[in-house]
Amino acid sequence: MPLGGGSYGVVLKATREGRNYAIKAVINDRDESPANIMLKFRLESEILRRVKHPQIPGFVEAFSMAEAHYLVQEYVEGLPLSHLIYTGRRFSEVEVKGIIYQLLVILNALHHPRHQQDAVVHRDLRLSNLMLSGDNLYLIDFGLARFIDGQQFPFCPDPLQKKCGSASNCKESYTYQLLRREISPRSDLFGAGVVAVDLFTNWVEDEALFKESWEHVLPLSEPFKEFIKKLLSREGFTTTAEALAYLCL
Ligand SMILES: Nc1ncnc2c1ncn2[C@@H]1O[C@H](COP(=O)(O)OP(=O)(O)O)[C@@H](O)[C@H]1O
Ligand SMILES: [Mg+2]
Repeated sequence: MPLGGGSYGVVLKATREGRNYAIKAVINDRDESPANIMLKFRLESEILRRVKHPQIPGFVEAFSMAEAHYLVQEYVEGLPLSHLIYTGRRFSEVEVKGIIYQLLVILNALHHPRHQQDAVVHRDLRLSNLMLSGDNLYLIDFGLARFIDGQQFPFCPDPLQKKCGSASNCKESYTYQLLRREISPRSDLFGAGVVAVDLFTNWVEDEALFKESWEHVLPLSEPFKEFIKKLLSREGFTTTAEALAYLCL
């Protein structure tokens, strides 16, 4: 059963011996050579193989057949946050705090694993890459993730670099692109800020208000606004530990 898909492929649900699995199938991409697709697939598989966290679906296996590549992962019995927002769910400030807290704990483990050579930045935090199962948050989609130590997998093409070589050819704001593509924990802290703001989407009923800055529109407490601003600012937090300490004050 197809679960969803982006530019990279399609995700299917499969069952074997009573257990469910998610199979990410990478079939083709109009813009990229088969060699680049293969490298990206191998990097995503290698990252998922090394990342071990109860809130990240575990790696099961990776294989290629003809021109297609398949990444098999544990299946998360839940729904992407994007789906919950799309179907009208409103998250309260307390709920968003709980989600961002869980996200920061997962990111802290990604950025500071037991062996520093396994440290990873996700770089694609968005509602469709976070799933909620009951109250538990799961982080998926390591398609743009990179090892912080460039020596771990040095020759992988980086679509974020290609999309935005200089400020002048960026459609999105320079800070946004710069922070999204950076291979440092800052990029994920920025992504967590984007997720926090997006979780309040359904509080804005008047479409005209989407043009206004989120701080003026969203019904948030001042301390939580300050927290989100710090996530989104280049001068804000530099580590997940700092952000967690601030959030728990
Ligand atoms: N491990 C999983 N368990 C359950 N559903 C998943 C899993 N991985 C992906 N999905 C579903 O497939 C969608 C696309 O997966 P994702 O890895 O984000 O691929 P893409 O690179 O195409 O964005 C997700 O939004 C989610 O609905
Ligand atoms: Mg995705």
